[in-house]
Amino acid sequence: MEIIEILVDSLIKPIGIDTQQPTFSWKLASEQQNTVQTAFELKVFSDKTLIWDSKKEVSSQSTFNVYQGPKLQAQTKYLVEVTVWDNHHQQAQAETEFETGLFGGDHFKADWISTSKESRITGCPVFFTNFSIKEELVRARLYVSSLGIYQAEINQQKVGDAYFTPGWTNYNQRIQYQTYDVTEQLKTNNILAITVANGWYKGTLGFMPQAERYGKKVAVIAQVKLDYEDGTSQIIATDETDWQVTEGALRMAEFYNGENYDSTYSKAVVEPVKVIDKDKSLLVAQEDEFVKVIKHFSAKKLIQTPAGETVIDFGQNIAGFVNFKIQGKTGQKITLRHAEALDQDGNFYTGNLSFAKAEDTYICDGSKQEFHPNFTYHGFRYISLIGFEADQIELVNFTAWALSSELAKTGLFTTSNKLINQLQNNIVWGQLDNFVDIPTDCPQRSERLGWTGDVSAFCHTAVFNRKADSFFKKWLRDLASEQSVKHGVPQVVPDIVNQEGTAFWGDVATILPWRLYQTYGNLTQLRENYPIMQQWIEYIQKHTNEKGLWQSGYQYGDWLALDAELQGLTDERVGATDRYLIANIFYANSLNLTAKAANELGEAEAAAAYHARYQDLMTAIRQEYVTANGRLVSETQTACVLALHFNLVPEKNRSQVLERLINNLAEHKNHLTTGFVGTPFVCHVLSENGAHDLARKILLAEDCPSWLYEISMGATTIWERWDSILPDGSFNPKNMNSLNHYAYGSIGDWMYREIGGLKELAPGYRKFMLRPRLTKGFTDVNLKFESVYGAIICNWECKNQQIKVVIEIPANTTAEVWLPEKDEKIELGSGKYSYQYATQTKLEIPKYSMETPLHVVLENDAAREFLNQAVPGMLDNQMLQYVQNEPVNTVASYSAEARPLFEKVIEVMNQDFQAHNN
Ligand code: BGC
Repeated sequence: MEIIEILVDSLIKPIGIDTQQPTFSWKLASEQQNTVQTAFELKVFSDKTLIWDSKKEVSSQSTFNVYQGPKLQAQTKYLVEVTVWDNHHQQAQAETEFETGLFGGDHFKADWISTSKESRITGCPVFFTNFSIKEELVRARLYVSSLGIYQAEINQQKVGDAYFTPGWTNYNQRIQYQTYDVTEQLKTNNILAITVANGWYKGTLGFMPQAERYGKKVAVIAQVKLDYEDGTSQIIATDETDWQVTEGALRMAEFYNGENYDSTYSKAVVEPVKVIDKDKSLLVAQEDEFVKVIKHFSAKKLIQTPAGETVIDFGQNIAGFVNFKIQGKTGQKITLRHAEALDQDGNFYTGNLSFAKAEDTYICDGSKQEFHPNFTYHGFRYISLIGFEADQIELVNFTAWALSSELAKTGLFTTSNKLINQLQNNIVWGQLDNFVDIPTDCPQRSERLGWTGDVSAFCHTAVFNRKADSFFKKWLRDLASEQSVKHGVPQVVPDIVNQEGTAFWGDVATILPWRLYQTYGNLTQLRENYPIMQQWIEYIQKHTNEKGLWQSGYQYGDWLALDAELQGLTDERVGATDRYLIANIFYANSLNLTAKAANELGEAEAAAAYHARYQDLMTAIRQEYVTANGRLVSETQTACVLALHFNLVPEKNRSQVLERLINNLAEHKNHLTTGFVGTPFVCHVLSENGAHDLARKILLAEDCPSWLYEISMGATTIWERWDSILPDGSFNPKNMNSLNHYAYGSIGDWMYREIGGLKELAPGYRKFMLRPRLTKGFTDVNLKFESVYGAIICNWECKNQQIKVVIEIPANTTAEVWLPEKDEKIELGSGKYSYQYATQTKLEIPKYSMETPLHVVLENDAAREFLNQAVPGMLDNQMLQYVQNEPVNTVASYSAEARPLFEKVIEVMNQDFQAHNN
């Protein structure tokens, strides 16, 4: 047995943490099956002195063990030694370390500094100082933060590799500072220079763009602590005496509009700085992973568009920027514009960027130069080049750098179905592109805000794909800092819109903490989030009527559902499902989750009270929205799905509601009309209620609206709308139309749970179920999830009349395994297992069938050729266009003679497909 990873506060060897009670988690690996931890001992040392010994504790808890020793000292490195014993009488030991930060912004010796009132600086200010090292250096740390976003350089070398620090928080209440180890970067004489751009603090933000949301002037606070070999130390801190401010080539930087960089700029002034009065106690240590470059994409294609633009395609829609090399002329101005797509005619399309200019402009100095922005990012796959000469454009000189909060990869889901693999890829990129310090709605237009409802829809999938506990810990602290019983949970966090809490959006306050607890099992985090949960339901209660129902105020409803449009409602975006039905179902869900949280936290009385409120509310909702015979007031797909998922309909009426859901889907030829709220639950409800194959059909549909339709249209991320690009290749004319929104990526959760078969049975996957479902269209599926205990693997295949299942269960966990087509539960401890047995089941499905819509046939070259020969003139029949959206089956049923012809054409199409795809 060995210890393979130790995390401190969920991070690897963090430096600069400001918590007095960090938690320690470790993963175990063992050659032996059924390994369980029986005891552990934690020792914490400061400078070789033992400061805390937990003593050997008989306990199987290997995650989130809370430090219980004496008060930790600021700016101190600690060594942690973990010893573990298991049930096979094995023992293992491993070490890690962490370092504390300043323990409170008040401990900054430095002052906040800014430019003076009379300042003549017109570009982004660069605050700087010179200092020399006095003695032999042991270690050096830089503690720094800013109002605006900063980049620090020591001797012209960037400190760290993060972007957009100090990150986005509600700066009126919380400002993060970062700690860097700069020991290696220092020489005898040094220049420390910190450039500050507007960022979220002063820059333009919001769908109604407005600058200076938090303040009018950028500022910085920084101190370097130098520890010398002789035991002395020295602090270099921002102040009015030793610091000055200047400016450089960076003339302008904004998130939406981009950067202007003039390498010929020569009018820079140097000025004294001014100490400003900003409360230092607002400073808190960075709480999660940094935003970093996570991948480089080389340029795939150089395109001359019909409109005459020179465009580069990077092949993937990302959040980030382009790095490029150029030998420019002195004073030559070049611009890179950014876009997610080309339009129907192949021209550069920026019509969906709202107010964001998304342009980076550079002025060259005549030398060979390499550029990329540092203080902005764009959502793009294509760039258009302006001001370049033809011989200055070589694809090898252009690389797209994708940025994201650097969260560890925890999920892997690959299958025999290439389109589904592409979908999974799109879901993951939708997440990476939008997890940029906070969970944003989109990376391209003038928005990029922490819309809470999008997180409610997507968080279940997100925590499969990436380790997001620290990322959301930070964001939920932001949320808590702006939530109130009076106004509820802000619609965006950090809040810049100041609007009242609404259903599903505000419900992120219960949905997310509970999801985090289920996925990571961190009770400390649940305890921290419990008040958020409680406050949210108190807010709703204040808005309920005499029946106890929430039936007032603005609601987003089933956002972007397609059924409102079908019913001709004025604001088509809110969907057709009764908005207060949605609000009340999620209110009930919030009460239920808060009751469960109370229970986990040992608050039995509160749990009982919340549970009683939940039951009363469910009764009130039923009285209001469900008829005596089990009909729902608004029987949309979403209403049926929510009613089934959240147990609104009485047991005896469930099958009726399910039937009506299935009928509704059939009326839409098995396509969804659901929006942000209904979509995450549809396939779950179908699979859990005996209609898994219908869920599969919906997933595998390739025509609009569907997940794979987006892929057939070339999507590399998830679109905001089901029909962001219309079948004719034109853009949805509605202005709100991002090609990179993650809400509909919520299907990922269902793919992991139902096709892959993984479900947690105890918080943190301490116990879990593996119940893969044989699903048509998939002959093999590989699922891997890196839980807090280690990797869970479930790979299955079903082909050539054999079923094979390979399983891995991490040490210190157990699993309930249900093998496909075997009707029994196997209880397993940790280890590797594999099974193989015979089956008659065939999961391969031909690409085309009698269910294929007629237009797919009419657009298929092989089919056209065949039909032209078999029935000359048939394709010119105008009547075909009236039935082109019908399945071939329906069209064939109009005439008995035609059926063999259609069966043949489907066969021809399948043969042609096989020939081209093998
Ligand atoms: C955002 C959405 C968000 C919505 C709220 C939009 O502009 O992009 O994703 O949830 O507004 O209705």
